Amino acid sequence: MERLKVGLCGCGGLGRVHAANLAQMEDVDVVAVCDKRPEQLVAKDVTINISTGAKAFDITKCRTYTDFGTMLRKEKLDVLVTALPTDLHAKIAIKAMNNGISVFTEKPMALTSKQCTSMIAARDKNGVQFMVGQCLRFWPEYVALYNAIRDKTYGKLESLTMTRIAGYPSWSADSWFMNHERSGAAILDMSLHDVDFAIHSLGKPTALTAGGFIGRTGGIDDVAAIWDYDGCMVSIRCSWKAQAFAMSFQAFFETASMDFGMAPDPALRLRRAGATEDEKVQVESVTGYVRELQYFLDCVRGRHPNTVCSAESTRDSIAMIELERKAIKTHRWVKVG
Ligand SMILES: NC(=O)c1ccc[n+]([C@@H]2O[C@H](COP(=O)([O-])OP(=O)(O)OC[C@H]3O[C@@H](n4cnc5c(N)ncnc54)[C@H](O)[C@@H]3O)[C@@H](O)[C@H]2O)c1
Repeated sequence: MERLKVGLCGCGGLGRVHAANLAQMEDVDVVAVCDKRPEQLVAKDVTINISTGAKAFDITKCRTYTDFGTMLRKEKLDVLVTALPTDLHAKIAIKAMNNGISVFTEKPMALTSKQCTSMIAARDKNGVQFMVGQCLRFWPEYVALYNAIRDKTYGKLESLTMTRIAGYPSWSADSWFMNHERSGAAILDMSLHDVDFAIHSLGKPTALTAGGFIGRTGGIDDVAAIWDYDGCMVSIRCSWKAQAFAMSFQAFFETASMDFGMAPDPALRLRRAGATEDEKVQVESVTGYVRELQYFLDCVRGRHPNTVCSAESTRDSIAMIELERKAIKTHRWVKVG
C-alpha cells in the first residue's frame, strides 16, 4: 500500500496546516475533507498561534462533506487525519477505526486517560494504525534535545525547564477552546506539548507537584509543574495569559547546557562547560507537523513500526495532566506510578 487515500475531518486552524502539508507529499491523495461548517470548506489561509509556513491548500480537488458519517459511507479511505475540537477526538477516531481506517488524530489524544484506553482498544480490535500528533516528538530542536538526553552526549541531564505561553486561542469559529469542558483548558491543550516531551524523553517521574490558576476557560489556564526524576528536576510552565506565543527550553547537562527560544528567530544554542561563547546548533528547517505525518504514513505503509509516538505513551501524558490537576487541588506532591 504505497499510495494512500487520505480524508481530513476538521478544516479549521490545524486541519488546514495538515491538508496543505499532505498535499505536498508523494503518494498521498487528499480525496475528501469534512467540516460541519460549510464556510470552512473553502480556500483560506492558515491561522494558528505559530507560523507553520503552510499555504492555503486547493480544496477544489477534494470532495467535501459537512457530515462525518456521510463521508465515511461514501469514501474508501486508507487514512483519516482529524483536527477537531478535543471533546470529539475519541468519538470520531473510534468510529473511523471501527470502519477499518487508520487514524492520525491531533493532540490532545482525548480529554481523559479513560477515553484514551478506549481508543487503544479500537486500534487493537481493528488492526489499524493510530497515532496522536504530538508534534514536539518530531520538532527538529526538540529531536536534538531528545538525542542528547538519550545518548548522554553531554553527560547526564540534571535539570530541564520548558515554557510555552500564548494568548487565549482566538481563531476557532465557535470558541470551543474557551470552554474547559471541551478543550481541557491550557493545562491540557497547551502544557501537554511539554508534558508529552518529558514522557517521551525521560519516561514517568517518581513524583510531581503543580500550582495553577483558573482562567477564562473555567479551567487551569496558568500552570507551573515540577517533576522529580530522582536527581533530575523538570519544570514545565504554561500560560494563556501572554500577549504572544513563545516556546523555549533550557537543558542543563553535566558538561553543557542547551537553550532553545523562538525570539527573535528560532535558535538552538549549546554552551560547553568552560566555554565563553555559545555554539549555534544546526537543525533541519522543517516543522514537526510535516515530519509527524510522514512518519505516521510510513507506519501505515508498513515501512516501520511506530516506536516514536505510540498511543500508549501519549496516553501516559494525559494521565500526567490528571495527576497535575490532583496536585493543584490538594497542594501536595503526588507519587507517580
Ligand atoms: N499540534 C499543535 O501545535 C496544535 C495547534 C493548534 C491546535 N491543535 C489541536 O488541533 C485540534 C483542532 O484545533 P484547531 O485550532 O484546528 O481548531 P479550529 O476550531 O480552528 O478547527 C476545528 C474545526 O473542526 C470543525 N468541527 C467541529 N465539529 C465538527 C464535527 N462534528 N464534524 C466536522 N467538523 C467539525 C469546526 O467547524 C472547525 O472548522 C485541537 O485538538 C487542538 O488542540 C494542535
